[in-house]
Amino acid sequence: MMDRIRIVGGRPLKGTIPISGAKNATLPLMIASLLSEETLTLDNVPRLADVSLLQRILGNHGVDVTVSGKRAGETADHGQTLRLSAERIVDTTAPYELVSKMRASFWVIAPLIARMGEARVSMPGGCAIGTRPVDLLIMAVERLGARIEIDGGYVVAKAPKGLRGAEIVFPKVTVGGTHTAMMAASLANGTTVIENAAREPEIVDVAECLNKMGARISGAGTQQIVIEGVARLGGARHAVLPDRIETGTYAMAVAMAGGEIFLQNGRPHLLQAALDVLNQTGVTVSPTKEGIRVARNGAELAPVEVTTAPFPAFPTDLQAQLMALMTRARGTSRIVETVFENRFMHVQELVRLGARIHLEGERATIEGVERLKGAQVMATDLRASVSLVIAALAAEGETIVNRVYHLDRGFERVEDKLARCGAAIERLPG
Ligand code: EPU
Repeated sequence: MMDRIRIVGGRPLKGTIPISGAKNATLPLMIASLLSEETLTLDNVPRLADVSLLQRILGNHGVDVTVSGKRAGETADHGQTLRLSAERIVDTTAPYELVSKMRASFWVIAPLIARMGEARVSMPGGCAIGTRPVDLLIMAVERLGARIEIDGGYVVAKAPKGLRGAEIVFPKVTVGGTHTAMMAASLANGTTVIENAAREPEIVDVAECLNKMGARISGAGTQQIVIEGVARLGGARHAVLPDRIETGTYAMAVAMAGGEIFLQNGRPHLLQAALDVLNQTGVTVSPTKEGIRVARNGAELAPVEVTTAPFPAFPTDLQAQLMALMTRARGTSRIVETVFENRFMHVQELVRLGARIHLEGERATIEGVERLKGAQVMATDLRASVSLVIAALAAEGETIVNRVYHLDRGFERVEDKLARCGAAIERLPG
């Protein structure tokens, strides 16, 4: 639990980094297994702490999860295969002890209410990246006909006669709200129309998987998703799409450290806005059929102005990493965070490494500096943690990143992947 990561900055990166399956597709895909009595098989599942935790949470509801070991010829670069079987749901309660550890587990409310007609799910509570309410998720299941009560910190949803299709208009784009509405509506009686739906690639991936299970979903990836409810869903097999945030993170790592990296399985269209920003900084980005090549050879980084927003705009999940990169740009950059309030915990830690950053509400102004110097740092969410790793790659001397368990929640073997490309990085077991 108390592992740390030690990095000595100043080495360029050279080689290939395999991109894992997307965490933020894997979690809702695993939750979707609750919708069917038959087995859902997921390939290309990343080895992450959040995936193991969700296995435990689903196990609590009665889902049998088996993880297949490596087959001959496979390495740790191949994702895992998970078989999830929710033949019998034994418990419709998701307790506080589990939901408070991982917000996305709140999403089990959708399959539980849709299939079982009841769900009792703890409100997730506070979170390191600011207030993150679940009012819109509750609104979605309520629109589909569930009766909702808040009791002792739990959302109690009841729909003894099943859910019915409805129009759900989200006043704000929400990824979790869209996943929840889509899953619940798949088993509702009649047609549901979701307006102002999130268009993230992970939504499209989940919709594709649900359709393989027998759902009738169209329009995923656009602002309007239409779902014709079906009476039951069956089993399916689905490979998780590559992680666009991991892809963008390593692209920024090589932009920071210099050198040339091939991001194997990275898909450019999943992160075009971020690749465009990297191009503006002067980094060379070359998409190929098998992945993305990113290089910076000696040139200085140009400053940029970026505003985070829902897909297809620049993602909030790459904001901290971009800020780390811009600490070394020649000139002043501006980053506006519009998705989450208070997603700036990395700022004070980057300042410890010598960065010059000024915060005003949702705006950060970053004045590029000539050099960063290694220090002890820590962060309280995973994207913030990895931004410190990126900064450390270009900092003089040694940086120790504490609280590595945040990194392990969302990045598979980060120290391995970077060390194989020449970074001086190692895990110090705690
Ligand atoms: N919001 C509400 N009410 C709600 C739901 C959301 O006001 O009921 C607000 C949030 O507070 C936020 C905005 O709407 O200001 C967008 O939140 P969203 O619901 O889209 O976020 P999420 O579904 O909780 C997912 C990812 C996050 C990612 C966001 C935005 C997963 C498991 N999580 O969260 O990923 O930042 O979408 O793209 O998919 C991460 O991986 O590090 C991470 C935080």
